[in-house]
Amino acid sequence: MSAAEILTAPERAGHEGASPLLEVEDLAKHWPVRRGLILARQVGTVRAVDGVSFHLRRGETLALVGESGCGKSTTARLVLRLIEPSRGALRFDGEDITALSGASLRRMRRRMQIIFQDPYASLNPRLTVGEAIAEPMLVHGIGDAASRAARVRELLGLVGLASFHAERYPHEFSGGQRQRIGIARALSVQPELIVCDEPVSALDVSIQAQVVNLLKDLQARFGLAYLFIAHDLAVVKHMADRVAVMYLGRIVEIADKRALFADPRHPYTRALLSAIPHPDPARRGRVKPLGGDVPSPMNPPPGCRFHTRCPHAAAICREREPPAVEVAPGHRSACHFARELPPAGLDFSGGLTPAAARRLALFASAGRPAAASV
Ligand SMILES: Nc1ncnc2c1ncn2[C@@H]1O[C@H](COP(=O)(O)OP(=O)(O)OP(=O)(O)O)[C@@H](O)[C@H]1O
Ligand code: SF4
Ligand SMILES: [Mg+2]
Repeated sequence: MSAAEILTAPERAGHEGASPLLEVEDLAKHWPVRRGLILARQVGTVRAVDGVSFHLRRGETLALVGESGCGKSTTARLVLRLIEPSRGALRFDGEDITALSGASLRRMRRRMQIIFQDPYASLNPRLTVGEAIAEPMLVHGIGDAASRAARVRELLGLVGLASFHAERYPHEFSGGQRQRIGIARALSVQPELIVCDEPVSALDVSIQAQVVNLLKDLQARFGLAYLFIAHDLAVVKHMADRVAVMYLGRIVEIADKRALFADPRHPYTRALLSAIPHPDPARRGRVKPLGGDVPSPMNPPPGCRFHTRCPHAAAICREREPPAVEVAPGHRSACHFARELPPAGLDFSGGLTPAAARRLALFASAGRPAAASV
């Protein structure tokens, strides 16, 4: 799907006249696959991300969902310029950042931070918590030792930890507390965008709710934009404003969260959502859960990449790549039959398993403890 198809003119102009904080157009990352120890020759290409376009407004959360290996983390790393794109454009606050390097890239990086999935691996065990939180400020030359120490104390309070925690080491903390430290570290340089790559997947369910609510509180307080990668649709339902669904390196559907859950217009989205059975069998949908494996990103199927697993596939799907169709303002689906698909017959409004429903209830009720007990 081309960039022009994905970004409509009003979206380009942004929401209510303001330009989007982040604009991504036709972004791709192709990894060469090499064989041979000495004279390694290229035997193929992994199309990890293959033409992704979306925008993100200030203060907004866009969730990126899809099966393992569909390119979510690669998209995140591209956005942060941690890896170089094979093609495409990235604009941050209206500025083309695709070609930035040196000091100007460093300045831009300060405005975008990341929170990782694994709070155990993402903190240096040799640094105290205070040093870990102050490190990004040091890298960006912000303040002096005294002002950084004061800021560390302030940040610890913001994420529900105590100032004495600054002297301790990461191994002395639980998973939830370490994720809070990661959040404080990301906040230290006052970013406008935080990429959250599965930030709660490694945590216990009750702790997930506290961390998700902390992220929401911080967003409301500082106007942060989140690119929020998650597997768990209960978390997405609670956290996101809009949702982008990825399949084999492409965005196949993007919409406001309510529209996407109420009326998904892509068979892949329907299959993902139908994997969450409604507790009441009478209200379960008619969509069969997805079978089969994701094809290799080294050799994606021709035409619609989803045709090998799609219950609606027709001859055209095997031959022609579907364009992104705008089925409603801001709701696009890359399916030849996006408009014709029958109603999904799914009820996602309360359509969650008892376990997922309990999790959502936890999100709604979890307190925001002044000092984290997690
Ligand atoms: N450095 C690399 N070299 C070659 N292939 C890579 C590299 N990094 C990622 N890939 C491949 O790119 C594809 C997308 O990977 P990515 O990590 O972005 O997926 P993901 O959606 O984040 O998956 P998960 O949900 O498991 O985290 C995968 O097929 C992966 O094997
Ligand atoms: S284009 Fe065809 S194969 Fe692809 S999702 Fe739509 S119906 Fe299925
Ligand atoms: Mg990933």
